[in-house]
Amino acid sequence: MQNNLSYQAPSADELLIQFHSSRKYSVDLIANLSAEDCQAQSMEDASPAKWHLAHVTWFYEVMVLRAFEKNFSYWNPEFAVLFNSYYNGVGDKHPRSKRGLLTRPSLQQVLEWRKNIEDRLQSLLKENSSKELLWLIQLGINHEQQHQELLLTDIQHLFSNNSLWPIYNPQNIDTPSVEQPFKWIEGISGLVQTGHSGNGFHFDNEGPQHSALNQTHSIGNRLVSNSEWLQFIEDGGYDNFQWWLDAGWAWLKSEKISAPLYWNKDGHGQLLRFSLNGNTPLDLQAPVSNISYFEADAFARWSSQNFASFAGARLPTENEWESFAQSHFETSNDLFGKVWQWTSSNYAPYPGYKPWGGIAGEYNGKFMVNQMVLKGSSAYTPKSHSRITYRNFFPTHARWQMTGLRLAKDGI
Ligand SMILES: [Fe+2]
Repeated sequence: MQNNLSYQAPSADELLIQFHSSRKYSVDLIANLSAEDCQAQSMEDASPAKWHLAHVTWFYEVMVLRAFEKNFSYWNPEFAVLFNSYYNGVGDKHPRSKRGLLTRPSLQQVLEWRKNIEDRLQSLLKENSSKELLWLIQLGINHEQQHQELLLTDIQHLFSNNSLWPIYNPQNIDTPSVEQPFKWIEGISGLVQTGHSGNGFHFDNEGPQHSALNQTHSIGNRLVSNSEWLQFIEDGGYDNFQWWLDAGWAWLKSEKISAPLYWNKDGHGQLLRFSLNGNTPLDLQAPVSNISYFEADAFARWSSQNFASFAGARLPTENEWESFAQSHFETSNDLFGKVWQWTSSNYAPYPGYKPWGGIAGEYNGKFMVNQMVLKGSSAYTPKSHSRITYRNFFPTHARWQMTGLRLAKDGI
């Protein structure tokens, strides 16, 4: 598989440490969950925690061991169907909407399967340290990290449907505040280099690096806060079609949307927000989170005309965001680790884009339509899984991820 000729692999020893660390972290994430918690599926977009633990294991078995292990045989060939997500090249799939019905295998059996695959991966790495194998294992680690974030967002969504308001994590892993005063920063305009150019691991959709043209623009020094979002709501932002894209207005009406996901009120009318820390008073200084692209876009249009310091606001393009991140990586403290930031850019291939070869070719490229790019990372993203060139993507109505926004405007 000639996937990335310039790829610089870590040593087999280093990779093994990363592998074990990522495998352990997945199991750590369910330490405070019951087998019942790990079983349920709250909606089609979300998957049970047990399914996530199994699917990332399936990935190693099908993508790595099947190709490289001598005398390979499946732990259980039926799992190849049950835990396939979207790889048509692998074969049949269990329906996505019915993942919560998989009461078998049990959580315990999935954990045993995980251990078996880990032992076999470790043995394989001891006898084979080819670049191709190292790359696939690094892909497996990065893939598992993506599912670690999904496991958290999916548990949050599941628990939000329970009026007991379960507390997942008594240690606060939710978002910190954004307290600095807002100001516009002059963006990098003209021809800029964007996309990944190094020889470290990156997803195929981040490259190749290429020239892009940024118009003269400014970009917000920080994320939009809950307090600013509350003003949008109090000014009737969700009741006035003029701020909304037509598809967004139709979505808002059919889904009866009137606030970010997870906002609710107690019996005294106090605003609360449900998070992995339970249902607690809304932190007005925190960045707004769990909004759809439609909402981010409507807020920008409203604030452009109704919020003095945001006059002229719109969403940034992904290239504007990336240029800002390159130039302010050292000085800006909310590029990463708080909320994913919607951009106005369609998720489309970069000029010269080539999907990876082999089965991994289905990883990113086939989703390049009807989705928008998000930049940065969230509080749920594993720490070593952030890059300036990272391109996350979701459809315009999705909002169960930790998604917020940073504003931009034309001119300076
Ligand atoms: Fe996956």
